[in-house]
Amino acid sequence: MVDSHRPAWLETAVFYEIYPQTFYDSNGDGIGDIPGIIERLDYVRRLGCDALWINPCFDSPFKDAGYDVRDYCKVASRYGTNDDLVRLFDEAHARGMYVLLDLVPGHTSEEHPWFRESQKQQRNEYSDRYIWTDNAFEGYSMPFIGGESERNATYILNFFKCQPALNYGFASRDRDWQSATDSDAARATRQAMVDVMRFWLERGCDGFRVDMANSLVKNDGDDKPETIRAWQEMLGAVKKDYPESAFVSEWGTPEQALPAGFDMDFYLDWRWNGVPNGYNLLARNVDGPLNVEDDKSYFSAHGGGSVRPFLDQYLPQYLKTRGEGFFCFITCNHDTPRMAPRLTDRERRVGYGMLLTMPGVPFIYYGDEIGMRYRDIPTVEGGYARTGSRTPMQWSAGRNAGFSDADAKALYLPVDPAPDAPNVDDQMRDSGSMLHWVHDLLELRSEHEALRAGADLTVLKAPEDSSLFVYLRSSRDGAERLAVVVNPGLNAQSFELPDDVHEPVEVLLHTGNVRTDSHTVRIAGQGFAVMRV
Ligand code: NOJ
Repeated sequence: MVDSHRPAWLETAVFYEIYPQTFYDSNGDGIGDIPGIIERLDYVRRLGCDALWINPCFDSPFKDAGYDVRDYCKVASRYGTNDDLVRLFDEAHARGMYVLLDLVPGHTSEEHPWFRESQKQQRNEYSDRYIWTDNAFEGYSMPFIGGESERNATYILNFFKCQPALNYGFASRDRDWQSATDSDAARATRQAMVDVMRFWLERGCDGFRVDMANSLVKNDGDDKPETIRAWQEMLGAVKKDYPESAFVSEWGTPEQALPAGFDMDFYLDWRWNGVPNGYNLLARNVDGPLNVEDDKSYFSAHGGGSVRPFLDQYLPQYLKTRGEGFFCFITCNHDTPRMAPRLTDRERRVGYGMLLTMPGVPFIYYGDEIGMRYRDIPTVEGGYARTGSRTPMQWSAGRNAGFSDADAKALYLPVDPAPDAPNVDDQMRDSGSMLHWVHDLLELRSEHEALRAGADLTVLKAPEDSSLFVYLRSSRDGAERLAVVVNPGLNAQSFELPDDVHEPVEVLLHTGNVRTDSHTVRIAGQGFAVMRV
Protein backbone atom coordinates (compact mmCIF):
# COMPACT_ATOMS: atom_id res chain seq x y z
CA MET A 1 0.00 0.00 0.00
CA VAL A 2 1.06 3.53 -0.58
CA ASP A 3 2.58 5.52 2.24
CA SER A 4 0.21 8.34 3.16
CA HIS A 5 3.13 10.70 3.69
CA ARG A 6 2.93 13.94 1.76
CA PRO A 7 6.00 16.17 1.52
CA ALA A 8 5.56 19.15 3.86
CA TRP A 9 7.24 21.47 1.38
CA LEU A 10 4.22 21.31 -0.91
CA GLU A 11 2.16 23.39 1.54
CA THR A 12 4.04 26.52 0.51
CA ALA A 13 5.34 25.48 -2.92
CA VAL A 14 4.70 27.34 -6.14
CA PHE A 15 5.74 25.61 -9.37
CA TYR A 16 7.16 27.12 -12.52
CA GLU A 17 6.84 24.95 -15.62
CA ILE A 18 9.75 25.11 -18.04
CA TYR A 19 9.62 23.92 -21.63
CA PRO A 20 13.37 23.34 -21.93
CA GLN A 21 13.51 23.88 -25.70
CA THR A 22 12.68 27.57 -25.35
CA PHE A 23 13.55 28.82 -21.89
CA TYR A 24 17.15 29.96 -22.19
CA ASP A 25 19.86 28.98 -24.67
CA SER A 26 23.25 29.21 -22.94
CA ASN A 27 25.42 27.96 -25.80
CA GLY A 28 23.99 29.79 -28.80
CA ASP A 29 22.75 26.74 -30.75
CA GLY A 30 19.18 28.04 -30.96
CA ILE A 31 17.63 25.69 -28.43
CA GLY A 32 17.30 26.04 -24.67
CA ASP A 33 19.40 23.87 -22.38
CA ILE A 34 19.94 22.83 -18.80
CA PRO A 35 22.86 25.19 -18.11
CA GLY A 36 20.50 27.91 -19.36
CA ILE A 37 17.90 26.91 -16.78
CA ILE A 38 20.60 27.06 -14.09
CA GLU A 39 21.54 30.59 -15.19
CA ARG A 40 17.92 31.69 -14.77
CA LEU A 41 17.15 29.99 -11.46
CA ASP A 42 17.54 33.25 -9.55
CA TYR A 43 14.95 34.87 -11.77
CA VAL A 44 12.43 32.10 -11.05
CA ARG A 45 13.18 32.25 -7.33
CA ARG A 46 12.80 36.04 -7.21
CA LEU A 47 9.46 35.76 -8.99
CA GLY A 48 8.30 33.71 -6.01
CA CYS A 49 8.45 30.15 -7.37
CA ASP A 50 10.42 27.55 -5.46
CA ALA A 51 9.80 24.48 -7.58
CA LEU A 52 10.27 23.57 -11.23
CA TRP A 53 8.47 21.14 -13.48
CA ILE A 54 10.67 20.55 -16.50
CA ASN A 55 9.07 18.97 -19.58
CA PRO A 56 10.85 15.78 -20.76
CA CYS A 57 14.56 16.42 -21.24
CA PHE A 58 15.61 12.86 -22.08
CA ASP A 59 17.10 11.31 -25.18
CA SER A 60 14.38 11.19 -27.83
CA PRO A 61 13.75 11.47 -31.58
CA PHE A 62 11.45 14.37 -30.61
CA LYS A 63 8.44 13.42 -32.66
CA ASP A 64 6.32 14.58 -29.72
CA ALA A 65 8.65 17.17 -28.20
CA GLY A 66 10.33 14.55 -25.97
CA TYR A 67 7.18 12.74 -24.81
CA ASP A 68 8.59 9.95 -26.97
CA VAL A 69 11.46 8.82 -24.76
CA ARG A 70 14.31 6.77 -26.24
CA ASP A 71 16.36 6.57 -23.05
CA TYR A 72 14.82 7.45 -19.67
CA CYS A 73 18.19 7.67 -18.00
CA LYS A 74 20.05 9.94 -20.39
CA VAL A 75 19.63 13.68 -20.86
CA ALA A 76 19.14 14.58 -24.54
CA SER A 77 22.46 15.92 -25.80
CA ARG A 78 20.81 19.11 -27.07
CA TYR A 79 20.03 20.01 -23.44
CA GLY A 80 23.40 18.98 -21.97
CA THR A 81 24.52 15.97 -19.97
CA ASN A 82 23.37 13.98 -16.96
CA ASP A 83 26.00 15.89 -14.99
CA ASP A 84 24.35 19.17 -16.01
CA LEU A 85 21.03 17.90 -14.73
CA VAL A 86 22.59 16.84 -11.42
CA ARG A 87 24.14 20.30 -11.19
CA LEU A 88 20.68 21.78 -11.74
CA PHE A 89 19.36 19.73 -8.80
CA ASP A 90 22.23 20.95 -6.63
CA GLU A 91 21.92 24.60 -7.67
CA ALA A 92 18.17 24.49 -7.11
CA HIS A 93 18.58 22.94 -3.67
CA ALA A 94 21.15 25.58 -2.75
CA ARG A 95 18.41 28.17 -3.38
CA GLY A 96 15.74 26.26 -1.44
CA MET A 97 14.15 25.08 -4.67
CA TYR A 98 12.89 21.70 -5.89
CA VAL A 99 12.99 20.07 -9.32
CA LEU A 100 10.37 17.73 -10.77
CA LEU A 101 11.17 15.90 -14.00
CA ASP A 102 8.53 14.67 -16.42
CA LEU A 103 7.97 10.91 -16.34
CA VAL A 104 6.29 9.34 -19.35
CA PRO A 105 5.28 5.89 -18.06
CA GLY A 106 2.53 4.95 -20.51
CA HIS A 107 4.61 4.70 -23.68
CA THR A 108 8.11 5.09 -25.08
CA SER A 109 9.43 6.17 -28.43
CA GLU A 110 9.29 3.51 -31.14
CA GLU A 111 13.10 3.92 -31.12
CA HIS A 112 13.50 2.84 -27.49
CA PRO A 113 15.78 -0.24 -27.25
CA TRP A 114 13.00 -2.07 -25.34
CA PHE A 115 10.70 -1.60 -28.30
CA ARG A 116 13.39 -2.57 -30.81
CA GLU A 117 13.80 -5.87 -28.97
CA SER A 118 10.06 -6.26 -28.58
CA GLN A 119 9.61 -5.98 -32.36
CA LYS A 120 11.67 -9.13 -32.96
CA GLN A 121 9.88 -12.35 -33.88
CA GLN A 122 12.23 -14.36 -31.63
CA ARG A 123 10.98 -14.20 -28.04
CA ASN A 124 13.19 -12.22 -25.65
CA GLU A 125 13.10 -10.32 -22.35
CA TYR A 126 11.16 -7.43 -23.92
CA SER A 127 8.63 -9.36 -26.02
CA ASP A 128 5.83 -8.53 -23.59
CA ARG A 129 7.03 -5.07 -22.51
CA TYR A 130 4.54 -3.61 -25.03
CA ILE A 131 1.04 -4.66 -26.00
CA TRP A 132 1.07 -6.94 -29.05
CA THR A 133 -1.71 -8.90 -30.68
CA ASP A 134 -0.80 -12.41 -31.86
CA ASN A 135 -1.19 -11.87 -35.58
CA ALA A 136 -0.06 -9.17 -38.01
CA PHE A 137 -3.62 -8.93 -39.31
CA GLU A 138 -5.38 -8.66 -35.99
CA GLY A 139 -6.68 -5.30 -34.85
CA TYR A 140 -8.43 -4.17 -31.68
CA SER A 141 -10.66 -1.40 -30.45
CA MET A 142 -7.59 0.72 -29.60
CA PRO A 143 -5.33 2.44 -32.14
CA PHE A 144 -2.83 -0.13 -33.39
CA ILE A 145 -0.05 -0.47 -35.95
CA GLY A 146 0.79 -3.42 -38.15
CA GLY A 147 3.28 -4.09 -40.92
CA GLU A 148 6.26 -2.29 -39.43
CA SER A 149 7.92 -5.09 -37.51
CA GLU A 150 9.49 -8.42 -38.15
CA ARG A 151 7.15 -9.74 -35.45
CA ASN A 152 3.97 -11.32 -36.72
CA ALA A 153 1.71 -9.07 -34.67
CA THR A 154 0.29 -5.56 -34.39
CA TYR A 155 1.01 -3.26 -31.45
CA ILE A 156 -1.23 -0.87 -29.54
CA LEU A 157 -0.49 2.86 -29.39
CA ASN A 158 -0.86 5.11 -26.38
CA PHE A 159 -0.96 8.46 -28.19
CA PHE A 160 0.77 9.36 -31.49
CA LYS A 161 2.02 6.73 -33.93
CA CYS A 162 5.55 7.10 -32.51
CA GLN A 163 4.37 6.09 -29.00
CA PRO A 164 3.73 2.34 -28.51
CA ALA A 165 1.90 1.57 -25.26
CA LEU A 166 3.87 -0.11 -22.50
CA ASN A 167 2.24 -3.23 -21.12
CA TYR A 168 0.74 -2.82 -17.64
CA GLY A 169 -1.89 -5.45 -18.42
CA PHE A 170 -5.63 -5.37 -18.97
CA ALA A 171 -8.19 -5.01 -16.18
CA SER A 172 -10.70 -7.06 -18.14
CA ARG A 173 -9.44 -9.37 -20.86
CA ASP A 174 -11.24 -10.44 -24.00
CA ARG A 175 -8.29 -11.76 -26.05
CA ASP A 176 -5.61 -14.35 -25.33
CA TRP A 177 -2.79 -11.91 -26.06
CA GLN A 178 -3.84 -9.54 -23.26
CA SER A 179 -1.76 -9.82 -20.09
CA ALA A 180 -3.32 -9.78 -16.64
CA THR A 181 -2.26 -6.98 -14.32
CA ASP A 182 -0.58 -9.53 -12.04
CA SER A 183 1.27 -11.23 -14.91
CA ASP A 184 5.06 -11.31 -14.98
CA ALA A 185 5.00 -8.97 -17.97
CA ALA A 186 2.93 -6.26 -16.23
CA ARG A 187 4.96 -6.65 -13.08
CA ALA A 188 8.21 -6.21 -15.04
CA THR A 189 6.92 -2.99 -16.65
CA ARG A 190 5.98 -1.55 -13.26
CA GLN A 191 9.39 -2.48 -11.89
CA ALA A 192 11.12 -0.88 -14.89
CA MET A 193 9.31 2.39 -14.21
CA VAL A 194 10.17 2.25 -10.51
CA ASP A 195 13.82 1.81 -11.54
CA VAL A 196 13.63 4.91 -13.76
CA MET A 197 12.21 6.99 -10.89
CA ARG A 198 14.86 5.71 -8.50
CA PHE A 199 17.61 6.49 -11.01
CA TRP A 200 16.81 10.22 -10.94
CA LEU A 201 15.75 10.44 -7.30
CA GLU A 202 19.11 8.98 -6.31
CA ARG A 203 20.79 11.78 -8.24
CA GLY A 204 18.84 14.52 -6.46
CA CYS A 205 15.60 14.96 -8.40
CA ASP A 206 12.66 15.83 -6.12
CA GLY A 207 9.90 13.97 -7.91
CA PHE A 208 7.93 13.79 -11.13
CA ARG A 209 5.08 15.22 -13.09
CA VAL A 210 3.58 12.07 -14.55
CA ASP A 211 2.31 12.08 -18.11
CA MET A 212 -1.08 10.45 -18.86
CA ALA A 213 -0.95 8.81 -15.46
CA ASN A 214 -4.44 7.36 -15.92
CA SER A 215 -3.51 5.53 -19.12
CA LEU A 216 -1.52 2.59 -17.78
CA VAL A 217 -3.88 -0.37 -17.42
CA LYS A 218 -6.11 -1.00 -20.42
CA ASN A 219 -9.85 -1.81 -20.30
CA ASP A 220 -9.87 -0.30 -16.81
CA GLY A 221 -13.28 1.38 -17.09
CA ASP A 222 -14.14 4.83 -15.82
CA ASP A 223 -13.13 4.20 -12.23
CA LYS A 224 -9.60 2.98 -13.07
CA PRO A 225 -9.25 0.55 -10.15
CA GLU A 226 -6.32 -1.37 -11.63
CA THR A 227 -4.46 1.76 -12.71
CA ILE A 228 -4.91 3.08 -9.17
CA ARG A 229 -3.56 -0.19 -7.79
CA ALA A 230 -0.56 -0.07 -10.12
CA TRP A 231 0.32 3.43 -8.93
CA GLN A 232 -0.17 2.51 -5.29
CA GLU A 233 2.40 -0.21 -5.76
CA MET A 234 4.88 1.89 -7.76
CA LEU A 235 4.64 5.08 -5.70
CA GLY A 236 4.60 3.05 -2.50
CA ALA A 237 7.90 1.45 -3.49
CA VAL A 238 9.50 4.78 -4.35
CA LYS A 239 8.14 6.81 -1.43
CA LYS A 240 9.41 4.26 1.04
CA ASP A 241 12.94 5.39 0.23
CA TYR A 242 12.24 8.96 -0.87
CA PRO A 243 9.44 10.18 1.42
CA GLU A 244 10.05 13.85 0.55
CA SER A 245 9.67 13.27 -3.19
CA ALA A 246 6.57 14.78 -4.79
CA PHE A 247 4.37 13.49 -7.59
CA VAL A 248 1.83 15.37 -9.65
CA SER A 249 -0.36 13.51 -12.07
CA GLU A 250 -1.74 14.42 -15.42
CA TRP A 251 -5.06 12.77 -14.57
CA GLY A 252 -7.60 15.54 -13.97
CA THR A 253 -9.61 13.41 -11.55
CA PRO A 254 -8.27 13.93 -8.03
CA GLU A 255 -10.72 11.46 -6.50
CA GLN A 256 -8.75 8.79 -8.40
CA ALA A 257 -5.26 10.28 -8.60
CA LEU A 258 -4.85 11.11 -4.90
CA PRO A 259 -5.91 7.67 -3.59
CA ALA A 260 -3.51 6.26 -6.20
CA GLY A 261 -0.73 7.90 -4.21
CA PHE A 262 -0.15 11.13 -6.07
CA ASP A 263 0.40 14.21 -3.91
CA MET A 264 -1.20 16.49 -6.46
CA ASP A 265 -3.39 16.32 -9.50
CA PHE A 266 -4.21 19.25 -11.73
CA TYR A 267 -7.04 20.49 -13.83
CA LEU A 268 -6.48 19.70 -17.46
CA ASP A 269 -7.70 21.95 -20.21
CA TRP A 270 -10.30 20.11 -22.26
CA ARG A 271 -13.54 20.74 -24.09
CA TRP A 272 -14.95 17.53 -25.45
CA ASN A 273 -18.12 17.55 -27.52
CA GLY A 274 -18.63 21.16 -26.49
CA VAL A 275 -18.50 20.25 -22.78
CA PRO A 276 -15.87 22.34 -20.98
CA ASN A 277 -14.03 21.18 -17.87
CA GLY A 278 -13.28 23.40 -14.87
CA TYR A 279 -10.16 25.01 -16.33
CA ASN A 280 -12.13 25.86 -19.46
CA LEU A 281 -15.01 27.34 -17.49
CA LEU A 282 -12.54 29.70 -15.87
CA ALA A 283 -10.05 30.52 -18.57
CA ARG A 284 -10.97 29.39 -22.08
CA ASN A 285 -14.62 28.62 -22.65
CA VAL A 286 -14.43 28.89 -26.41
CA ASP A 287 -13.37 26.88 -29.45
CA GLY A 288 -10.17 28.13 -31.05
CA PRO A 289 -7.26 29.55 -29.11
CA LEU A 290 -7.61 33.10 -30.42
CA ASN A 291 -11.38 33.49 -30.49
CA VAL A 292 -12.01 36.48 -28.22
CA GLU A 293 -15.55 37.28 -29.29
CA ASP A 294 -17.35 34.17 -28.12
CA ASP A 295 -15.28 33.42 -25.04
CA LYS A 296 -17.73 32.56 -22.24
CA SER A 297 -15.03 31.90 -19.67
CA TYR A 298 -15.46 33.31 -16.18
CA PHE A 299 -12.32 35.45 -16.49
CA SER A 300 -13.56 37.08 -19.69
CA ALA A 301 -15.04 40.50 -18.83
CA HIS A 302 -17.70 40.30 -21.56
CA GLY A 303 -18.75 36.70 -21.77
CA GLY A 304 -18.23 35.38 -18.29
CA GLY A 305 -21.09 35.70 -15.88
CA SER A 306 -21.38 33.60 -12.77
CA VAL A 307 -18.62 31.47 -11.26
CA ARG A 308 -21.34 28.92 -10.32
CA PRO A 309 -20.87 26.46 -13.21
CA PHE A 310 -17.19 26.22 -12.27
CA LEU A 311 -17.95 25.72 -8.58
CA ASP A 312 -20.58 23.09 -9.35
CA GLN A 313 -17.79 21.06 -10.89
CA TYR A 314 -14.89 22.00 -8.65
CA LEU A 315 -16.40 21.94 -5.16
CA PRO A 316 -17.51 18.29 -5.07
CA GLN A 317 -14.04 17.23 -6.20
CA TYR A 318 -12.32 19.57 -3.76
CA LEU A 319 -14.49 18.49 -0.83
CA LYS A 320 -14.13 14.81 -1.61
CA THR A 321 -10.34 14.95 -1.66
CA ARG A 322 -9.64 17.64 0.95
CA GLY A 323 -6.82 16.51 3.21
CA GLU A 324 -5.75 13.72 0.85
CA GLY A 325 -3.53 15.82 -1.42
CA PHE A 326 -4.01 18.79 -3.69
CA PHE A 327 -6.16 19.56 -6.71
CA CYS A 328 -4.10 22.23 -8.46
CA PHE A 329 -4.56 25.09 -10.88
CA ILE A 330 -2.28 25.95 -13.77
CA THR A 331 -2.05 29.32 -15.49
CA CYS A 332 -1.60 27.34 -18.72
CA ASN A 333 0.78 24.64 -19.94
CA HIS A 334 2.62 23.38 -23.00
CA ASP A 335 -0.58 21.73 -24.32
CA THR A 336 -2.87 24.70 -23.75
CA PRO A 337 -3.22 28.05 -25.53
CA ARG A 338 -1.85 30.84 -23.39
CA MET A 339 -4.48 33.22 -22.00
CA ALA A 340 -2.85 36.16 -23.81
CA PRO A 341 -3.82 37.70 -26.15
CA ARG A 342 -7.36 36.21 -25.90
CA LEU A 343 -7.75 37.62 -22.40
CA THR A 344 -6.59 41.18 -21.79
CA ASP A 345 -4.01 42.25 -19.22
CA ARG A 346 -6.81 43.25 -16.80
CA GLU A 347 -8.69 40.01 -17.31
CA ARG A 348 -5.55 38.00 -16.62
CA ARG A 349 -4.71 40.02 -13.50
CA VAL A 350 -8.06 39.13 -11.96
CA GLY A 351 -7.74 35.55 -13.22
CA TYR A 352 -4.26 35.03 -11.78
CA GLY A 353 -5.46 36.63 -8.55
CA MET A 354 -7.98 33.84 -8.20
CA LEU A 355 -5.78 31.00 -9.49
CA LEU A 356 -2.95 31.92 -7.11
CA THR A 357 -5.16 32.26 -4.02
CA MET A 358 -7.27 29.11 -4.37
CA PRO A 359 -6.39 25.88 -2.52
CA GLY A 360 -3.78 23.55 -4.00
CA VAL A 361 -0.28 24.13 -5.30
CA PRO A 362 -0.24 26.61 -8.20
CA PHE A 363 1.64 26.03 -11.46
CA ILE A 364 2.81 29.00 -13.52
CA TYR A 365 3.76 28.31 -17.13
CA TYR A 366 6.96 30.10 -18.16
CA GLY A 367 6.28 33.48 -19.71
CA ASP A 368 2.71 33.80 -18.42
CA GLU A 369 4.08 36.12 -15.75
CA ILE A 370 4.93 38.68 -18.45
CA GLY A 371 1.87 37.97 -20.60
CA MET A 372 3.59 36.09 -23.43
CA ARG A 373 1.15 35.61 -26.26
CA TYR A 374 -0.15 32.54 -28.00
CA ARG A 375 0.50 32.70 -31.74
CA ASP A 376 -0.83 30.66 -34.61
CA ILE A 377 2.42 29.26 -36.04
CA PRO A 378 3.41 26.11 -37.96
CA THR A 379 3.85 22.91 -36.00
CA VAL A 380 7.22 21.80 -34.64
CA GLU A 381 7.98 18.42 -33.05
CA GLY A 382 4.38 17.23 -33.01
CA GLY A 383 3.12 20.38 -31.33
CA TYR A 384 0.37 21.27 -33.85
CA ALA A 385 -1.97 23.84 -32.27
CA ARG A 386 0.13 23.63 -29.10
CA THR A 387 3.21 25.04 -30.82
CA GLY A 388 2.01 28.63 -30.37
CA SER A 389 2.36 28.26 -26.59
CA ARG A 390 5.95 26.99 -26.79
CA THR A 391 7.82 29.98 -28.23
CA PRO A 392 11.09 31.36 -26.79
CA MET A 393 10.99 33.12 -23.43
CA GLN A 394 11.20 36.88 -23.89
CA TRP A 395 13.94 38.08 -21.59
CA SER A 396 14.71 41.45 -23.15
CA ALA A 397 14.04 43.72 -26.11
CA GLY A 398 17.42 42.66 -27.57
CA ARG A 399 18.44 40.09 -30.16
CA ASN A 400 16.08 37.06 -30.20
CA ALA A 401 14.33 38.57 -27.18
CA GLY A 402 17.41 37.71 -25.15
CA PHE A 403 16.68 33.98 -25.51
CA SER A 404 19.65 33.00 -27.67
CA ASP A 405 22.65 34.37 -29.54
CA ALA A 406 22.00 32.10 -32.50
CA ASP A 407 21.00 33.30 -35.91
CA ALA A 408 17.23 33.92 -35.81
CA LYS A 409 16.72 31.25 -38.49
CA ALA A 410 18.38 28.65 -36.28
CA LEU A 411 15.98 29.09 -33.37
CA TYR A 412 13.85 26.14 -32.28
CA LEU A 413 10.82 28.40 -32.78
CA PRO A 414 10.65 32.04 -33.87
CA VAL A 415 10.39 34.65 -31.13
CA ASP A 416 7.33 36.88 -30.96
CA PRO A 417 8.00 39.52 -33.68
CA ALA A 418 5.46 42.06 -32.32
CA PRO A 419 7.07 45.45 -31.60
CA ASP A 420 5.27 45.50 -28.25
CA ALA A 421 6.06 41.89 -27.32
CA PRO A 422 6.42 41.86 -23.52
CA ASN A 423 9.78 41.07 -21.97
CA VAL A 424 11.25 40.52 -18.52
CA ASP A 425 13.69 43.46 -18.50
CA ASP A 426 11.04 46.06 -19.30
CA GLN A 427 8.59 44.62 -16.82
CA MET A 428 11.18 44.46 -14.06
CA ARG A 429 11.58 48.23 -14.41
CA ASP A 430 7.84 48.90 -14.42
CA SER A 431 6.30 48.50 -10.98
CA GLY A 432 2.83 48.35 -12.55
CA SER A 433 3.66 45.41 -14.84
CA MET A 434 2.13 41.96 -14.93
CA LEU A 435 5.46 40.57 -13.70
CA HIS A 436 5.16 42.69 -10.56
CA TRP A 437 1.53 41.70 -10.11
CA VAL A 438 2.38 37.98 -10.23
CA HIS A 439 5.32 38.59 -7.92
CA ASP A 440 3.11 40.46 -5.44
CA LEU A 441 0.50 37.71 -5.48
CA LEU A 442 3.15 35.08 -4.80
CA GLU A 443 4.71 37.16 -2.05
CA LEU A 444 1.31 37.52 -0.41
CA ARG A 445 0.78 33.78 -0.71
CA SER A 446 4.12 33.06 0.93
CA GLU A 447 3.42 35.42 3.85
CA HIS A 448 0.03 34.03 4.87
CA GLU A 449 -0.81 30.71 6.41
CA ALA A 450 -4.36 31.16 5.20
CA LEU A 451 -3.09 30.92 1.61
CA ARG A 452 -1.21 27.65 2.07
CA ALA A 453 -2.07 24.81 -0.29
CA GLY A 454 -4.09 22.94 2.32
CA ALA A 455 -5.65 25.94 4.11
CA ASP A 456 -9.44 25.83 4.15
CA LEU A 457 -11.76 27.25 1.50
CA THR A 458 -15.28 28.48 2.23
CA VAL A 459 -17.43 30.03 -0.47
CA LEU A 460 -19.07 33.24 0.80
CA LYS A 461 -20.71 34.65 -2.33
CA ALA A 462 -21.20 33.10 -5.75
CA PRO A 463 -24.42 34.60 -7.14
CA GLU A 464 -26.02 33.17 -10.28
CA ASP A 465 -26.69 36.61 -11.70
CA SER A 466 -23.32 38.34 -11.46
CA SER A 467 -19.60 37.74 -11.83
CA LEU A 468 -18.89 38.23 -8.12
CA PHE A 469 -17.04 35.48 -6.28
CA VAL A 470 -16.03 35.90 -2.64
CA TYR A 471 -14.29 33.20 -0.65
CA LEU A 472 -12.65 32.78 2.68
CA ARG A 473 -9.29 31.12 3.13
CA SER A 474 -8.50 30.13 6.74
CA SER A 475 -5.34 28.76 8.24
CA ARG A 476 -5.61 25.24 9.65
CA ASP A 477 -5.68 26.54 13.25
CA GLY A 478 -8.31 29.12 12.27
CA ALA A 479 -6.13 31.98 13.54
CA GLU A 480 -5.86 33.72 10.18
CA ARG A 481 -8.77 34.39 7.85
CA LEU A 482 -8.54 36.17 4.52
CA ALA A 483 -11.45 37.12 2.30
CA VAL A 484 -10.71 37.03 -1.42
CA VAL A 485 -12.95 39.07 -3.72
CA VAL A 486 -12.99 38.33 -7.45
CA ASN A 487 -14.99 40.36 -9.95
CA PRO A 488 -13.95 39.75 -13.57
CA GLY A 489 -17.07 41.44 -14.97
CA LEU A 490 -17.26 45.05 -16.13
CA ASN A 491 -19.70 46.26 -13.45
CA ALA A 492 -18.81 47.20 -9.89
CA GLN A 493 -20.34 44.95 -7.24
CA SER A 494 -21.37 45.67 -3.64
CA PHE A 495 -22.08 42.99 -1.10
CA GLU A 496 -22.37 42.32 2.62
CA LEU A 497 -20.00 39.92 4.28
CA PRO A 498 -21.90 37.40 6.43
CA ASP A 499 -22.22 38.26 10.14
CA ASP A 500 -20.02 35.38 11.26
CA VAL A 501 -17.11 36.84 9.25
CA HIS A 502 -15.34 39.73 10.99
CA GLU A 503 -15.38 43.03 9.17
CA PRO A 504 -12.36 43.67 6.96
CA VAL A 505 -9.48 45.23 8.87
CA GLU A 506 -6.96 45.61 6.08
CA VAL A 507 -6.84 45.27 2.30
CA LEU A 508 -3.61 43.38 1.66
CA LEU A 509 -3.53 43.45 -2.14
CA HIS A 510 -5.89 44.61 -4.85
CA THR A 511 -6.36 45.64 -8.44
CA GLY A 512 -9.25 48.00 -9.21
CA ASN A 513 -10.86 50.06 -6.47
CA VAL A 514 -12.11 48.39 -3.35
CA ARG A 515 -13.98 50.16 -0.52
CA THR A 516 -15.08 48.71 2.77
CA ASP A 517 -17.51 50.12 5.31
CA SER A 518 -18.09 47.82 8.22
CA HIS A 519 -19.44 44.61 6.58
CA THR A 520 -20.17 46.27 3.26
CA VAL A 521 -17.65 45.85 0.46
CA ARG A 522 -17.68 47.52 -2.95
CA ILE A 523 -15.34 46.24 -5.65
CA ALA A 524 -14.79 47.84 -9.04
CA GLY A 525 -15.44 46.02 -12.30
CA GLN A 526 -12.45 43.84 -13.22
CA GLY A 527 -11.37 44.06 -9.60
CA PHE A 528 -9.66 41.66 -7.25
CA ALA A 529 -8.83 42.07 -3.58
CA VAL A 530 -7.52 40.11 -0.64
CA MET A 531 -8.60 41.39 2.78
CA ARG A 532 -7.82 40.36 6.30
CA VAL A 533 -11.10 39.70 8.14
C1 NOJ B 1 0.47 14.76 -22.44
C2 NOJ B 1 1.59 15.71 -22.66
O1 NOJ B 1 1.42 16.85 -21.85
C3 NOJ B 1 1.59 16.02 -24.14
O2 NOJ B 1 2.43 17.11 -24.45
C4 NOJ B 1 1.99 14.77 -24.87
O3 NOJ B 1 1.88 15.00 -26.27
C5 NOJ B 1 1.05 13.60 -24.52
N1 NOJ B 1 0.76 13.53 -23.13
C6 NOJ B 1 1.66 12.29 -24.92
O4 NOJ B 1 2.72 11.94 -24.09
